[in-house]
Amino acid sequence: MAINAFIFDLDGVLTDTAEYHYLAWSALANELAVPFDRDDNEQLKGVDRMGSLDYILKKGNVNLTEQQKLTLADKKNLHYQQLINDMSPKDLFEGVTELFAQLKQQNINIGLASASKNAQMVLERLGIADQFDYVADAAKVAQGKPHPEIFLTVAEAFFLPADQCVGIEDSIAGLQSIVSAKMHSVGIGQPEVLYQADVVYADIKSFNLQQVLALA
Ligand code: BG6
Ligand code: MG
Repeated sequence: MAINAFIFDLDGVLTDTAEYHYLAWSALANELAVPFDRDDNEQLKGVDRMGSLDYILKKGNVNLTEQQKLTLADKKNLHYQQLINDMSPKDLFEGVTELFAQLKQQNINIGLASASKNAQMVLERLGIADQFDYVADAAKVAQGKPHPEIFLTVAEAFFLPADQCVGIEDSIAGLQSIVSAKMHSVGIGQPEVLYQADVVYADIKSFNLQQVLALA
């Protein structure tokens, strides 16, 4: 069966916003005196805002009320939004424009499955908002990654079964989501971290479209 949709994650796949999320969480963790390093961050990639905050609070044995948690989550988000404020099309990872053009040429749907409520803003800053056939609304997803819901939502919007879709992710939680959705999977990053993926590339510019299409 042919592949008819590519469903992309955003942060860390199409642009370097994974680094901005890291910087903002790391500043907050520092304020709370909770140790937070890049290994911790690997666990947080793909995880939604409150889930990420809960991870940090648990690590530091910090107990807070729901209201205090919301205040901290808002603070992290404001910091993150300051970091993405100056983004522009030059921040799109190398190879994305070419890959999207190839997919369009082959009539393959392009979808977005980002857990970020800031995704639309980032897509607009990058100048690629109009490239997507469907963008999942993170605010409407009941069960975040690693649950398969967000990837399945996009496949349903395309009226496609999972085995005609490829999910592309840089995070452990996101790959788990794709695997649970029973889609083909591409990891962007290190094979040791993203061992669950069918194929792993260091970055989007190393993407081998023919190899991925042959997964089906
Ligand atoms: C994911 C990121 O894409 O979105 C996570 O990998 C982030 O790091 C999550 O926490 C939620 O993002 P936001 O913008 O809604 O806080
Ligand atoms: Mg990501």
